[in-house]
Amino acid sequence: MVRRFPTVASESAKAILGETLKFPSGKIAQNRFLKAALTEMLSVFEPTNPKVNGVPTQEIINVYDKWGNGQFGVILTGNVQVSPVHLEAPGNAMIFKEGETPARREAYKQWAKVIKQDGALAVVQLSHGGRQTPITVNSSPFSASDVQLDKEVRFVGFGKPIPLTVEQITTEVIDRFVYAAKYAYETGFDGVQLHGAHGYLLAQFTSPTTNKRTDQYGGSVANRQRIVLEIYEAIRKEIPASTGFLIGLKTNSVEFQSEGTTVEDAVEMCKAYEKIGFDFVELSGGTYEQLAFQHIRDSTRQREAFFLEFAEKIRPVFKNTVVYLTGGFRTVNAMVDAVKSGATQGIGLGRPITAEPDLPKKDPPRSCRLSCS
Ligand SMILES: Cc1cc2nc3c(=O)[nH]c(=O)nc-3n(C[C@H](O)[C@H](O)[C@H](O)COP(=O)(O)O)c2cc1C
Repeated sequence: MVRRFPTVASESAKAILGETLKFPSGKIAQNRFLKAALTEMLSVFEPTNPKVNGVPTQEIINVYDKWGNGQFGVILTGNVQVSPVHLEAPGNAMIFKEGETPARREAYKQWAKVIKQDGALAVVQLSHGGRQTPITVNSSPFSASDVQLDKEVRFVGFGKPIPLTVEQITTEVIDRFVYAAKYAYETGFDGVQLHGAHGYLLAQFTSPTTNKRTDQYGGSVANRQRIVLEIYEAIRKEIPASTGFLIGLKTNSVEFQSEGTTVEDAVEMCKAYEKIGFDFVELSGGTYEQLAFQHIRDSTRQREAFFLEFAEKIRPVFKNTVVYLTGGFRTVNAMVDAVKSGATQGIGLGRPITAEPDLPKKDPPRSCRLSCS
């Protein structure tokens, strides 16, 4: 049940949120709004038939026709999987070489086209489920180490993961991300975002709770984030920045776990993301073990954004890379305050824009408060 609390936004608020954002590789977002990734689970799920498995359906096109008509600066897809046996959930869209068909290409071209109809930049979120792949999909998923997720999500548990060898990190992870990024480029998307947050495979590498490796991919912050930087470089070898193709990252600002990624770790990692040239970094937080998509403290409720205090610490690191903050925003005034305070440049919205898919287009922009927050 959605409860609406319309807020009055001034003309100056409208002007601030309507400002353009320029990315290091040249593309420009028409305003500060980002439609955050929201898993759709609306693609074909036929594990025994790679030719159709993970092909986006007409339902996805219909949903994005709404958002595409909403004048967002950037529209992210939900998590699109780069490995057909490592999903976030059955029904995820997928891009993988064993599944190459003209029909899949056509579906992705259609998807990009509806997203871009009103000027938004279309960005595919690329992900690998790693140990967070449901056991019903894969009982022995790959991960950084063999740390099993001891929890049920949507009534389903998770298998004991197999640590990737160094060779498999290239063949099963980096190569697959590169293939999917090229595919996104060729089918008309403006960029990709690597999903490095919420406990999926890349976060399994960056987090000390799930990365117990003693080789060059484990231990120090630099080693734990190596895989993310290697994926960035491998994509850029195929699609240089001069093409304008965006490479972004969703990353955790904090994990709220005793041995998890701290904000100090996040600051260190973000320095390297800025240096290597990521176009944008979207700050989020939490994992399956410690979900963080709700207002818990009163101070957070006041300022709305769940990760604002962490974004404030991380933001000074970025000079060229554009920063988005996602999670908890419900009113225009809180969005404007977050931008004005310098904590973020862009505003990511998830649940609110399922109720108002054309929110950025509204004149003046308004927002709602959801009872679920
Ligand atoms: C139903 C649902 C699906 C989501 N799917 C994804 C996803 O595919 N990828 C991702 O990075 N985050 C995903 N998220 C997290 C959102 O992108 C966002 O970070 C979170 O909802 C907080 O923002 P909000 O308070 O504006 O909703 C999902 C969240 C929800 C509620």
